[in-house]
Amino acid sequence: MAKASGSHTASTGKPASEEDKKAKKPAKEADKPKKGAKAPVSKNGTAKDKAPELHAFEEELNRREVSLIEREIKTIRMQEELDRLRPLSGLYRVVKAMATERRLDSLLDTITRETQAMLKADRCSVFVVDSTTDELWTQVAQGLEGFRMIRIPVSGTSIVAWCARSGDIINIPDAYDDERFDPAVDKATGYRTRSVLCVPMQNRSGQVIGVFQVLNKKDGPFTSEDEDWLEGLAAVAAGLIEQAQAYQEIESFVDQTLMVLAQTIDKRDPLTAGHSIRVTKYSLLIGQSLIIPDEDIDILRYSAMMHDYGKIGVPEAVLWKNGRLTPEEYACVQTHARITFDLLSNLPFTKRLAAVPFVASCHHEKLDGSGYYRGLKGEEIPFLAKIIAVADVFDALTSVRHYRNRMPIDKVHEILESGRNNHFESRCVDAFLRLPCQQVLSVMESERDRNSSEDLERFGNITWARLTELVSGAEPKGEEEGIVDIFERMYNFGLPEGYKALD
Ligand SMILES: [Fe+2]
Repeated sequence: MAKASGSHTASTGKPASEEDKKAKKPAKEADKPKKGAKAPVSKNGTAKDKAPELHAFEEELNRREVSLIEREIKTIRMQEELDRLRPLSGLYRVVKAMATERRLDSLLDTITRETQAMLKADRCSVFVVDSTTDELWTQVAQGLEGFRMIRIPVSGTSIVAWCARSGDIINIPDAYDDERFDPAVDKATGYRTRSVLCVPMQNRSGQVIGVFQVLNKKDGPFTSEDEDWLEGLAAVAAGLIEQAQAYQEIESFVDQTLMVLAQTIDKRDPLTAGHSIRVTKYSLLIGQSLIIPDEDIDILRYSAMMHDYGKIGVPEAVLWKNGRLTPEEYACVQTHARITFDLLSNLPFTKRLAAVPFVASCHHEKLDGSGYYRGLKGEEIPFLAKIIAVADVFDALTSVRHYRNRMPIDKVHEILESGRNNHFESRCVDAFLRLPCQQVLSVMESERDRNSSEDLERFGNITWARLTELVSGAEPKGEEEGIVDIFERMYNFGLPEGYKALD
């Protein structure tokens, strides 16, 4: 009996040829498409045996689809995680900003921006209670043009006012369905309020000091989770805002106190009235034109304001002498710089303003070392004192003194120019000469009992240097025509008839 197995064919019993062997290869092997081989194509051009390839292709597609879905799930989870963490990171940023930001306006701006992002709201406003007027004010109205102050009465009909009065959280999915909502603001601004969340800010004694308002949550109404976040933020913000308000009050008290102290010196003599304030204004104009760092602006302001405070220790008979001073009298006047330093050093200036006594007392120092009272040279003199030196000399020369009239403006110019690099720092003189004439004249006129705003407008954009050229006889061009006459009228206004300059 023949075995129907091995290399024999089952039907014929003959030994299997090589072709037969090939034909009998398992289908799986034979059907496997060779890498890079094209599918066999029939005579009429259609794929003869594309099913396995399609199958592989389908498998590949499925594999990619699964991986894509997995990746999407991962992204969604990450997004969810991010969304969950967003309020936390917002809170972190606000708390971080609080630690560095003392100014109320910047603090409110930071809080508003971060809260808006944190709660995915379209708008956010922080309303602060002004107890003197019984109003709620906000300076931040995002989405509108820039900053502007909005004031609403606490007794008013708005949701914010209602929140401030009741001390309750208000969460409304659609403002137009709530009778407490006043659509007048929407009408005025063209904005369409939908969801509203208002949270009161309370101080430690439980008094409402403001209201947080967020509008139009981007994906549906505000949730109870949003309420919790905003409540937490409001609690932190309340403390900060109170602190910033207290800081502002202290700053304003210090500012006003120093100004009054400076004025007490100026007021001793009607002819020097306003000198310290004008020197402060000129100094700040020069400082801003030189773009000095922000932290130097306050040092400059207070140093300029107090520069002559030491004159309190100089006898009036010397200060008010109508004529040239003797060398002894001049030496006596010079002591005021040292007295300024001694007196100001007794004031508890904060670390930020610690340089004020030194800067203020250096306003008579000269670059070449011939100034007083320390005889400092060049870089030894603080830069801010170099600014005050230019402002001080300019104001002294352009003011009436007991011993002379206002000095002609071209002569003032000569003195500034000839003082370059020996008395004055050249950069400070340049900065002064570059100042718009309108600004310089506005300071010059600020302490005079005369409304000169119309005249000031005529000076357009010309610089102080250009005005000096015109006064010295330069040919006026276009709008400059007639300016010298206006200037002379302003400059000599109110001077006594026939008053002769001694200089
Ligand atoms: Fe002085």
